Amino acid sequence: MQIRSNSESAAFYRSGKIEEGRTNHHLANLINTQRRLILREYALNFSVNTFDYLGSILSYIAIGVPIFLGTYDALSAPDLSALISANAFVMIYLINCFTTLIDLSVQVTNIAGTTHRVVELREKLEQLYDAQQSHEKNRPANMQGFGWSEMETLLRKDQGYQVEAGSESETEDPPITALRVNDLTFVAPKSTEKLCIGLCFDFKQGVNILVTGDSGCGKSSLLRVINGIWPELRGTVTHGVEQLPHRLLYLPQRPYFTDGSLRQQVIYPLQEFDRLADTGESDDIVIEDLLSKSDLGHLKDRVGGLDTQVDWNWYDHLSPGEMQRLSFTRLFYHKPKFAVLDEATSQVGVDMEERLYSLCSQLGITLLSVGHRDTLRKYHHVELHIEKQGTWSLKPLSAGSNS
Ligand SMILES: Nc1ncnc2c1ncn2[C@@H]1O[C@H](COP(=O)(O)OP(=O)(O)OP(=O)(O)O)[C@@H](O)[C@H]1O
Ligand SMILES: [Mg+2]
Repeated sequence: MQIRSNSESAAFYRSGKIEEGRTNHHLANLINTQRRLILREYALNFSVNTFDYLGSILSYIAIGVPIFLGTYDALSAPDLSALISANAFVMIYLINCFTTLIDLSVQVTNIAGTTHRVVELREKLEQLYDAQQSHEKNRPANMQGFGWSEMETLLRKDQGYQVEAGSESETEDPPITALRVNDLTFVAPKSTEKLCIGLCFDFKQGVNILVTGDSGCGKSSLLRVINGIWPELRGTVTHGVEQLPHRLLYLPQRPYFTDGSLRQQVIYPLQEFDRLADTGESDDIVIEDLLSKSDLGHLKDRVGGLDTQVDWNWYDHLSPGEMQRLSFTRLFYHKPKFAVLDEATSQVGVDMEERLYSLCSQLGITLLSVGHRDTLRKYHHVELHIEKQGTWSLKPLSAGSNS
């Protein structure tokens, strides 16, 4: 169900194979649990029914042995029948009482199972209560450890906001073109209305592009087409970098979270066991630092650690703004050269938006953002405006005047 409702977001991360593996793993767990349950129920039912049948057989053996040993040879046939009948009645009554007792065992097992679950719930609640108490005690210490000073230094240094073209080692290389969109025309599935006609632009390192336009004009659809989720009607989209998390990462309009630990959410679409094998504590420090930079330092304490396996849905436990900030933490973790953000800051305040965009700039991430807010303009060099009728225009923005 999670995959069905979030298929598009997962597709943006190209994580089909990963989700297939995870889902198969969950299905295998479920099948194993069902198999164990069926085997145990089978053993229980078999013993109960066997006792029922064995009881009837025993009653005949009990009366048959003395008869064949000659104990009742002196009795006439009618008296013997009366004796067998009386014995059979007593035996069947006894067996019935025993059977009732054995049948009770099924109910007792059910009650034991339910009691076990209630006790587990109670233990869990006690653990949560203890954890909350210790968290309350430690709160001031945690607040001091947020690591904001480093972030603030970065922000102060970057007040003018200027995109750094790539990381230090690459400053001398010519800028990479992540995407070349040429004469692109596309439509939504089952629609003939062209969302964009003859679109041409390059997504180049160091030149941030802001895609604007009314709701429903086709901004997210453009991202679907350049990601390859929707086909082009005409024209081409050429990729200059592989779509790997550390090269080109998409943050879809609906943030995507998989099941599992907080670490899994941050490193997605990588997987926990890939990372845990070759990284250690250093990775923990990086993730914790990035979480605090996205103002999510409290999440680790709330879920009980980076690697605590949660059995609830992340969508139900995070506010829309928190989901967007966690998506940015993922972006900062992968530090790709290029990122495509679809309204990725629509649920956070202007201050947080500034922090997040500034950190992207510090990390040398070139952005193609979709957004409505005017405040976004200052982080971009070019605006691509899409009109409802499929027309479009490109115009330089103030941030671009430096480059
Ligand atoms: N999966 C889909 N199947 C068919 N049509 C779709 C699908 N998704 C979107 N559309 C249609 O395509 C058009 C463009 O949608 P799109 O999501 O690109 O809008 P948008 O510009 O991103 O809007 P917003 O600013 O509200 O996010 C809309 O008319 C929409 O109804
Ligand atoms: Mg959209």
